[in-house]
Amino acid sequence: MPEPPSPVSAFCLLLAPYRRVVSAVNTRESGVAKAKVIDGKAVAAELRSRVGDIAARLHDEMNVTTGLAAVLVGSDPASQVYVRAKGRACSTAGLGSFELRFPDDISEAALVAEVEKLNADDRVDGVLVQLPLPGHIDVHRIIAAIDPDKDVDGFHPVNVGRLWSGPSGLVPCTPQGCLNLLRTVHDDLSGADAVVLGRSNLVGKPMAALLLAANCTVTVVHSKSRDAAAICRRADILVAAAGRPQMVKATWINPGATVIDVGINPVPLPDGSSRVLGDVDFDSVCTVAGAITPVPGGVGPMTIACLLRNTLLAACRRRGLPDPLL
Ligand code: GUN
Repeated sequence: MPEPPSPVSAFCLLLAPYRRVVSAVNTRESGVAKAKVIDGKAVAAELRSRVGDIAARLHDEMNVTTGLAAVLVGSDPASQVYVRAKGRACSTAGLGSFELRFPDDISEAALVAEVEKLNADDRVDGVLVQLPLPGHIDVHRIIAAIDPDKDVDGFHPVNVGRLWSGPSGLVPCTPQGCLNLLRTVHDDLSGADAVVLGRSNLVGKPMAALLLAANCTVTVVHSKSRDAAAICRRADILVAAAGRPQMVKATWINPGATVIDVGINPVPLPDGSSRVLGDVDFDSVCTVAGAITPVPGGVGPMTIACLLRNTLLAACRRRGLPDPLL
């Protein structure tokens, strides 16, 4: 009689229907706009649903509940909103979520001790510490305290090293989301001229690493670069992550280029409310670009979807399972 499949191989068989490429690109039909508008909400919703399906199978087939722990220090309003949204996304996808809140004046040593508790907690597959942290805490020390195999932000030096030298560990969520969106437009990025605007540890640098791994020719433009506009104009792919509202104008764009806008810049309005603007002047740029992400509704939804994806990946790897979403 043939041996019954092991729990691991049975689980792998169940993954087969999910190995497919996501593609959701809309075409703008009104006005003078020419660019395809990349629907980040739709791509993110599909990824979240796939994560949810696989998390449910992990639970049903292997009695594993995938769990994410988010640590929030202090009362920064934006951080509170982000952490709440991450918890809600976990619940919707059927992942366990733990939210740990600490006062502004928690000591660095006490915060390290809390992170170490989460590292040792078997219910927790992913740990993230919401940034920014209060000034008296060394962010590098806190990130270094996270178990690299639970570091679902991909910020730990071990994961940074893995990203650049391969094979990759856990990849930062926002650049991972940008790459997923690019792949809805480009089957092959090989040889493309890619420009990344911004060199932050959270987005610009890991984005450059991912594009290089995809065989692009990568240029990183930053605040000391000479003639940013001229460099951007050469790009087949432009990822704008400078944190400056509407910095990128139509004259910066190579006709037909794909433009990914990472900016989330709150701008006050005269009535006291605010609106969020990207780093790209959408209305003018979409008359020149070939494809573009909107703000909101582009990169933003992908960040949380990729966080869920990383948490699921961490849960699988901890148990010797392959990447369920390859
Ligand atoms: N603050 C702003 N973006 C992020 C992020 O991606 N992860 C964490 N942990 N904090 C952030």
